[in-house]
Amino acid sequence: MGKENMRCPAGVLNLYLVFFLVLHLFVAGRCEDPAKENVSDEDLATGNASDQKLSGWDVYKRLFVHKRVDHKDAVSTIVAMEGYAKQYKMINILLENILKVLPDAQTSLQQAGYYPGPFPENTDIKDALSRLLENVAFFGDILLRFPDMTHDVLKKHQEWRTILEAAVVFCNQTQLYSEGVNHEQLNLVSQELGLIEKDPNYLNPFSKEGKMAQEQQMLQAAKSAHDKPKNKKKKDREKRKGPRLSRSKNEL
Ligand SMILES: *[C@@H]1O[C@H](CO)[C@@H](O)[C@H](O)[C@H]1NC(C)=O
Ligand SMILES: *[C@@H]1O[C@H](CO)[C@@H](O)[C@H](O)[C@H]1NC(C)=O
Ligand SMILES: *[C@@H]1O[C@H](CO)[C@@H](O)[C@H](O)[C@H]1NC(C)=O
Repeated sequence: MGKENMRCPAGVLNLYLVFFLVLHLFVAGRCEDPAKENVSDEDLATGNASDQKLSGWDVYKRLFVHKRVDHKDAVSTIVAMEGYAKQYKMINILLENILKVLPDAQTSLQQAGYYPGPFPENTDIKDALSRLLENVAFFGDILLRFPDMTHDVLKKHQEWRTILEAAVVFCNQTQLYSEGVNHEQLNLVSQELGLIEKDPNYLNPFSKEGKMAQEQQMLQAAKSAHDKPKNKKKKDREKRKGPRLSRSKNEL
């Protein structure tokens, strides 16, 4: 089938490094995912007649899980890259690509008059929607794993931020992001972008603040482990002595 020739090089990331990572994104942004064009491929692979009753979103959610594997691989590839400069450059390139795909997709959806709702049937709309959903997810991976670098890149491209924010808000209204891991990730992304108020407990462990907090915690843990034996004995003795109030009186 001619379809085979159209396949995106989805598995490639595991084997090849940076060059293919970029290529993949570029191609993934452009070429049509054959599986989405004809749902029965996926149905055949995963199940049987009952799958035919799944909604468009349900089917797409399954495909999305596969896409996410590629995204995670791509992020691992950046993590494995040595040196700040290389990682920074890579993140810049990836964002550049994401920010090429997103406005196109947004325009297509707007022109088609598509608003978040049922999964579209029209191939072009489906394609635009999935590009938007996938690129926002991938952007989220990068942002959450490399918050400082990503914020720095975005500072230099205010127009990117505007596009991304609109895309996140759009995704937030789709069924894909209404629950589960996708919802959780988008919620974190929204906090990290400052789109919604940060939870008091929100701390990205990969940010400078997060790393400092972790070091602090470890220091504290080490300190209290050092102090503990004495404290504990003292407390135990105090406990036996009785209520707190009398203790403080005695100590005074
Ligand atoms: C998928 O393709 C087959 C033939 O290749 C066709 O019979 C079927 O209707 C298509 N399904 C969808 C959902 O487009
Ligand atoms: C669908 O799959 C289930 C188990 O996954 C099986 O029990 C059932 O017979 C299958 N139905 C058809 C129509 O193949
Ligand atoms: C996402 O949707 C929830 C409600 O479903 C809302 O509280 C939240 O503010 C939205 N986030 C964004 C970034 O629009």
